[in-house]
Amino acid sequence: MSLIALVKGRRGASGFGHASTAEEVTQGIDLSGKTVVITGANSGLGAETARVLAMRGADVIALARNPDKAAKAAELLPRAVGVACELSEPDSVRQCVKEILAMDRKIDILICNAGIMALPKLEQKDGYELQFYTNHVGHFLLITGLMDALSEDARVVMLSSYGHTLAKRGIELDNLSGTDSYSSWRAYGRSKLANLLMAVELSSRFEGSQRTANAVHPGVIRTNLGRHLHPVMNGIYAATGAIYAKSPEQGAATTCYVATNSALSEISGKYFSDSNLCKTSRHGRDKKMAKELWEASEKIATESV
Ligand SMILES: NC(=O)c1ccc[n+]([C@@H]2O[C@H](COP(=O)([O-])OP(=O)(O)OC[C@H]3O[C@@H](n4cnc5c(N)ncnc54)[C@H](OP(=O)(O)O)[C@@H]3O)[C@@H](O)[C@H]2O)c1
Repeated sequence: MSLIALVKGRRGASGFGHASTAEEVTQGIDLSGKTVVITGANSGLGAETARVLAMRGADVIALARNPDKAAKAAELLPRAVGVACELSEPDSVRQCVKEILAMDRKIDILICNAGIMALPKLEQKDGYELQFYTNHVGHFLLITGLMDALSEDARVVMLSSYGHTLAKRGIELDNLSGTDSYSSWRAYGRSKLANLLMAVELSSRFEGSQRTANAVHPGVIRTNLGRHLHPVMNGIYAATGAIYAKSPEQGAATTCYVATNSALSEISGKYFSDSNLCKTSRHGRDKKMAKELWEASEKIATESV
């Protein structure tokens, strides 16, 4: 057996590993009567995650950038409804929250999956760097807006990334505009660190309840996420992908595992990869930074009204 096959076939303490699929990690789990809200349900990992959770019986509220994409995502699933949620537009997120709250149902699983990666040039929204604004601020508005609708044992799953380790200087709260030496990957890394720190801070805020919040690295999967990559980078990716890449079915596994596995009912504030606990960067464990990020996000949310 080759080294690659050996690494890909390896399983961790959970019994799952790199090659496990979302269907495999949810085998035998009945989600009937459970409500899942997921962002970015129309593409890549979000679409596969929604498909498998719906297949296990969940009612899915499928969020996507606009009404058309949300409706099309929902049409592919049983018992699903689509709701528009453009994460870089606070008014759209607030409208989405309003529509979900009007459904008057408890949310059992909230998956913050949508994201953009490595914008080649600095782009901003309301003066904030766009990857941070979309990947983090949009989800912050969604989570805080839906907080009272979470069920008693709700699980929040944040799609972070190994890319959070690229944020060598941490969140850089004094550089949320991104104007201080913009780097596409550092900016992506900061947004993914923010997703991870959201899970850390939420888990503190959930203490004393049965609610949990965790973050995941899904693996490296060829999806539309690479749309902003330079063609050379895409070429390297295509040539080397066979060594480490996962299929979307495998890429959705860790999210589905963290969202549903009964062994994790009391595990919160952690980071998972290949459906197993995983170590973060030092910034990814920084509770003080997580709290400061929350406070800064509250301020941004207030400004955006
Ligand atoms: N693929 C990987 O290798 C990898 C690795 C590590 C982490 N991740 C994380 O996994 C998550 C899912 O990525 P993916 O690979 O499935 O990529 P994808 O296929 O590009 O899906 C991303 C989703 O996010 C949505 N989205 C982007 N900007 C949005 C906005 N402003 N408002 C609302 N929705 C928006 C996209 O909508 P549109 O289709 O309308 O653009 C799409 O539904 C991301 O958070 C990513 O950072 C992926």
